[in-house]
Amino acid sequence: MVQNTIFTNKSSNYKTDIATYKVGYSSPSNIALVKYWGKFGRQFPKNPSLSITLDNAHTKTLVNFSKKEVTGDVSLSFLFEGEKKKSFEDKMLKFLSSITNELPFLLEYDLKVESSNTFPHSSGIASSASSMSALAMCLCDFERVLSKEEVSEKYFFEKASYIARLGSGSASRSLFESMAVWGKTDLVESSDDYAVEFRDFSDVFNGICDSVAIISAGEKAVSSRAGHALMDTHPFAETRFKSANSNMETLLDSLKSGDFDKFTEVVEIEALELHGLMMNSRPSFILMEPNTLEAIKRIREFRNKTGTKVCFTLDAGPNVHILYPNSEKSAVKKFIEDEIKPLAQNGLIIHDQMGSGAKRLEC
Ligand code: PMV
Repeated sequence: MVQNTIFTNKSSNYKTDIATYKVGYSSPSNIALVKYWGKFGRQFPKNPSLSITLDNAHTKTLVNFSKKEVTGDVSLSFLFEGEKKKSFEDKMLKFLSSITNELPFLLEYDLKVESSNTFPHSSGIASSASSMSALAMCLCDFERVLSKEEVSEKYFFEKASYIARLGSGSASRSLFESMAVWGKTDLVESSDDYAVEFRDFSDVFNGICDSVAIISAGEKAVSSRAGHALMDTHPFAETRFKSANSNMETLLDSLKSGDFDKFTEVVEIEALELHGLMMNSRPSFILMEPNTLEAIKRIREFRNKTGTKVCFTLDAGPNVHILYPNSEKSAVKKFIEDEIKPLAQNGLIIHDQMGSGAKRLEC
């Protein structure tokens, strides 16, 4: 059985008679409840994070591998939504070239990659988590086929999550059904190297809905790479990492006990801490728009007035993720239609919910 020695491999462990292989995966986006913000070394997180795996927002990636005559640099052709995108291709080539110790077959095969997203282009929904995790699944699937030794399902998922992490930290969490934890914590069995599925939540949270109000679909004012770097010198960095750990503890308690009020409190604090950190960074960034704040105000007023179980979280951008149990669907959807939709750019709301993780595609 193949062992985990930080997932490096050798070409001599591969079969030599596979000339071509075609594989496809669809992998979803995820929304973090405890946020990953700040990293060290080779994309390790400064604190543990926990996310909900989404369902509708996902990337489909197909990879065609064909054996080269001579082993050489990584060679790639990449089509995004049927078209050549030089900037995306360059980024992917750089990434693939950085993981040849982990996946040495990358030097032996030509790669043709085709990728598309199910969510609208320029909707402000981050695609790095879904795209990097879909690609990682394709690569690790091929490695499993090439491997002379048996590869367990556990090893396969851990390695795919590890590879996805090297592409984009949050991508490590996207493969898993329902929820995932990434980053070492004493509270659950987890690792900085890869994410693990998280199942210890009450039925209250099963199938939880996430409706995203697209307040602005423009380019992010700060990339997540730049945002993580700001944490290296952030005056509140140590306080933040402690707080993320204690928020994680509260969140895990609320998930286990099914306490949606406690969940609301900690999830909203996490979102605002993330934005507070950006506002207090040097240089400082304000990523919320006036309508972000108005949406937050309306969600809180609606909750206070009606007692409906609903809360919000934010990514590193202005869009508002509205979270609510499946049982509150009709009440919250009506509230969104009446009060949130007018605040969204072109009235765009993307309705999503907890999903089942990465899936192999027939191809
Ligand atoms: O995976 P990255 O490097 O794009 O960072 C993601 C950071 C947040 O989305 C803001 C938080 C998170 O944990 O997903």
